[in-house]
Amino acid sequence: MDTINILLIGDIVGRPGRTIIKDHLSEICKEYSVHCVIANCENAAGGISITPEIAQELFSYKIHVLTTGNHIFNNRTIIKLLESNKYILRPANFPKGVPGKGYTIIKINDFTIAIVNLIGRINMEPVDCPFIAFNTLYDEITSKTNIIIVDFHAEATSEKKAFGWFADGRASAVCGTHTHVQTADETILPNGTAYITDVGMTGPFDSVIGMDKESSIHNFIYHTRIKFKVAQNDPRLNAVLVTCNKQGRAVSITRIIKSYELSPGNS
Ligand SMILES: [Fe+2]
Ligand SMILES: [Fe+2]
Repeated sequence: MDTINILLIGDIVGRPGRTIIKDHLSEICKEYSVHCVIANCENAAGGISITPEIAQELFSYKIHVLTTGNHIFNNRTIIKLLESNKYILRPANFPKGVPGKGYTIIKINDFTIAIVNLIGRINMEPVDCPFIAFNTLYDEITSKTNIIIVDFHAEATSEKKAFGWFADGRASAVCGTHTHVQTADETILPNGTAYITDVGMTGPFDSVIGMDKESSIHNFIYHTRIKFKVAQNDPRLNAVLVTCNKQGRAVSITRIIKSYELSPGNS
């Protein structure tokens, strides 16, 4: 095997998102000859967090590594799992002392793959610099592998674009998450890094980025912060397939969007 096919799944939102993974991940893996699955799970529990039970549920559907983002500590029961399980990550550029880890290394067939989770700082919490954090991690990781997949969880397009150029030739892929809207700018940068500003969302699209439309509109108008509910309808999967060679360079990046019928237990 000269290349490896890595599927990156955009933020899984609530039960509708999990149901898509349960019902359809294996057929997608067959269709695209996927060897490695990485998914962002920060919204998998009720749309705003992840629990240990739901993380284990997602692992049972054959996801190799779960990445997260700004919602990771909304449910603190996840802390133990972050500390004990090397396949669930929190952003690497959270300050020193934060539980969990920001990257992991897995082996699949002849390939050793590092998965790095970073988070942006523009219109987000004031964490450590993701660029400097990547430099430090890169020095650590390159002694072990040159296949490095980055989930860059960030709001600002400019910050993601800048990071893509910054990591070009060092990361195999820089895939943005967090906005829940897939961008159509997938490309291979000149030095061999696959790049997309945002992979998108796996969840209900009849929504405001996964949340019930009415509560979202209400909160924008009245600022009374009524509780968001996960929406239910129009389930879709957003992902990208990145193919990398043994040198850690990307040879292709393909956007994937799938629409599904609502499954009976999910209405
Ligand atoms: Fe998200
Ligand atoms: Fe997020």
